[in-house]
Amino acid sequence: MHSFRLVYLNGEFLPPERAMISAFDRGFVFGDGVYEVIPVFGRRLFRLPHHLARLQRSLNEVRLPNPLSASRWEEVLKRLTAEVTADDQSVYLQVTRGPAPRDHAFPADVHPTVFAYAQPSKPAEPEVLARGISAVTIADIRWLRCDIKATALLANAMLRQQAADRGAAEAILIRDGLVTEGAASNVFVVRDETILTTPNGPFILPGITRDLVLELANVHSLPALEQPLPESALVDADEIWITSSMREILPVTRLNERPVGGGKPGPLHARVHALYQDYKRAFSEGKVG
Ligand code: PDD
Repeated sequence: MHSFRLVYLNGEFLPPERAMISAFDRGFVFGDGVYEVIPVFGRRLFRLPHHLARLQRSLNEVRLPNPLSASRWEEVLKRLTAEVTADDQSVYLQVTRGPAPRDHAFPADVHPTVFAYAQPSKPAEPEVLARGISAVTIADIRWLRCDIKATALLANAMLRQQAADRGAAEAILIRDGLVTEGAASNVFVVRDETILTTPNGPFILPGITRDLVLELANVHSLPALEQPLPESALVDADEIWITSSMREILPVTRLNERPVGGGKPGPLHARVHALYQDYKRAFSEGKVG
C-alpha cells in the first residue's frame, strides 16, 4: 500500500503499519488539526522556511503550541526524505490537538499528535502540460477561515469529487460572485498580458506556489496584480492556471466544457512555467536557498 518504509509519529520513526494513534485523537474525531505539503527537489525541501512559517500561522490561529522547533522539524523531515530513494518527493506533515475526552472546547492539557512522511513524486506528464486540464466552477461551500491549512477537508473533498464526477481535474470555487481558489489549488487568470490572482484573505489559502509565481513575475518584470476576480474574469480570460506544491502551475484549457482563450496552454503559462522550472533546477543544484 505504501511506497515508504518509515513514518514519523510523536518522536519515533516507525514502519507505517506500526504507527498507531488513539481513536480519541481530536484529529480523528473533530478534524482538529493543521497540515503542510512540502515538495522535495533534488532531495532538498523546497521553500521549507515558507512552509514552516505558514504552519506556525495555522497553529497560532487554532491556538495549538508548535510541538517542534524549526530546526527539529528540519531534522525530522530530512530524515524522512533520506529514507526515500527518489530525488523528487513530497512531504506530508500534520499536527492535531491529540487525544482527549470528546468535548468541543479545547482540552486544558494538550498533547499534540505529530505525524509526517515522505513519498516519491512525479512532475506533471508532458501530455498534461501540452493539453492543459479541464475545470468546472462550483459554489464555494467552505467555511470563512480558508486561510488556515486545516486537516478538516470534507468540503474540499466534496468539491473535488463533484469536479471529478463532471470529468474535470479541479473545481474553481466562487463565493459571492468572486473567484476564491481551487478545491486544492490557487487560481490565476491572464488577461491582456497581465497575470491576475485573488488577494490573500480569509477565503483562500496563502499558497506557497502562488507566492513564488508572483515573486518570479516581479523579478522578471511580468505585469502581475492581486485583485478580486469576478466570475466573469474566467469567461473573458486569455489563460487560466491553477497552482499548488504538487501540481506546480497547470494550465486550465477547458472551463465548464468550453475552451479557455484559444483552448490551448497560453504563452504566459509557457513563460512562467519555464521560470518556475529554472528556479527549481537552480534550487536542486543548491544554487538558490
Ligand atoms: N493543497 N488552496 C488550497 C485549498 C490547497 O489545498 C492548496 C494546496 C493550495 C496551494 O497551496 P501551495 O501552493 O502552498 O501548495 C491552495 C495541498 C497541496 C494538499 O492539500 O495536498
